[in-house]
Amino acid sequence: MCKNSIDSRLKSNIMQKENHISFHMPGHKGRSPFAGDLADFDTTELDGTDNLADPKKEIQSIEREISKTIGSQQTMISVNGASAALMACLLGTFQPNDKIVLSRDVHKSVYSALAYGRFQPVYLYPKKETHYGIYPSGWEMKELESLRKKHPDIKGLVLTHPNYYGICPDIDEMVRFCQRNDILLIIDEAHGSHLPFTGEEGPKSAVSMKADALVHSTHKTLSALNQGAVIHILSNRVDSKRIKRHLNMVQTTSPSYPILLSVEESYRKVDAVRKAVQLWRDGKEKVRETIKKTRFKLVEDFPECRNMVFDPAKLWIDKGGIDNITGLLANQYGIDIEMEDEYTMVAMAGVGTLATDYHHLADALVQIDREYRTYDGERRDNECMAQRKIEEKTRTFPKNKIRMPIWEAVFQPTEVLPPDQAIGKIAGEFVMAYPPGLPIIVPGEEISQELGRCLKHMDQSRWIGLDQGGRISVIKE
Ligand SMILES: Cc1ncc(COP(=O)(O)O)c(C=O)c1O
Repeated sequence: MCKNSIDSRLKSNIMQKENHISFHMPGHKGRSPFAGDLADFDTTELDGTDNLADPKKEIQSIEREISKTIGSQQTMISVNGASAALMACLLGTFQPNDKIVLSRDVHKSVYSALAYGRFQPVYLYPKKETHYGIYPSGWEMKELESLRKKHPDIKGLVLTHPNYYGICPDIDEMVRFCQRNDILLIIDEAHGSHLPFTGEEGPKSAVSMKADALVHSTHKTLSALNQGAVIHILSNRVDSKRIKRHLNMVQTTSPSYPILLSVEESYRKVDAVRKAVQLWRDGKEKVRETIKKTRFKLVEDFPECRNMVFDPAKLWIDKGGIDNITGLLANQYGIDIEMEDEYTMVAMAGVGTLATDYHHLADALVQIDREYRTYDGERRDNECMAQRKIEEKTRTFPKNKIRMPIWEAVFQPTEVLPPDQAIGKIAGEFVMAYPPGLPIIVPGEEISQELGRCLKHMDQSRWIGLDQGGRISVIKE
């Protein structure tokens, strides 16, 4: 293998990180039974193996077993993640020109489905009620009702539950609303594959609420390898054959047995998942207790979040004004964190997480807090404030003017322009922080003056859709 191949770079990265603790995806945390020689499992359509596109043998029996475990009408495995699964659900359910209500904080793949299916989006904007006033924390029922009054021909609703930060919005009422009004409901439960196993304490999965179709990204918190995901069909109101046809159209034709078997494994040890959920609850409590007297705080403990439900797998932590805390945790304490933004960080547990991982994280935060007391924290915070004020605007899901349907915009020739010259032009590219991959600009939308100003100050390393010079793609006029 050549010296600079991805393989050797990955290997040296993994070796350097051998003793690191993972609070990021995938959920197996490097402790998967498939971590051995993957090549042994990697086969294709042979005598004795099945066909991914039309499973009749092993793959079919794996899907049936998972369906039984979950209580779905049918389950299909996607080896191209929740992204392909969500696209298949939308493309396999709606017709071109159908109006679909989308919560504006849906994942990028839902927008891809819009583009290929030529669906008309009607946006449901998230309420803003967390400490910072800017994170998507659920939706107002009356907002949905008023959208329905304005657009009586709405055919579907797509919601994310739980969201990337671990907020589990209350969607019971919305589910009932959809059932009463003949609106098909697709739930992106990518981050909540473990929710069917949380027991009485919850949070509840939308599986039990009887959404029509639902997607789980089993690699995020269960033990599947990256890209392992499933579609659960939960009602007769959707056409599973059409969804499967579209899954076959958007995902690879090559079966990945390592992924397929790892998805099967995720559901085989349901008791281990239940135990893991309890371990995460205890771990969160441990972190909460340990950091009580530090500058750090769980976001869910802010008074504004009192009535909100949070996912036990996520530790969403106010980072107390310490910039690049994830770099500090990785380099000085060997703890890798899923995501850091201006105010907070998201640490993510999975079935591979150990109780001691939480202890190490909690101790590291106490240590960092002690060290940072010797700095002029207030001055640092003030310095960051101006930047933060600009950046917070980028997470309010701006109500951009749609100048061209997305399905037209993605096929147009584009040019790149610096943000101030892009003001008033039509975006030719998605702009989003990744993770979590929730676009604030969608192709076809006009770049407003306010957005143009924000784009100028954004960190290109975290934002997808800006080139290295901070320029944005716009449609050529
Ligand atoms: C809310 C949400 N939905 C869907 C996806 C896509 O998941 P996958 O990586 O399995 O394609 C993501 C990815 O992070 C996500 O955050």
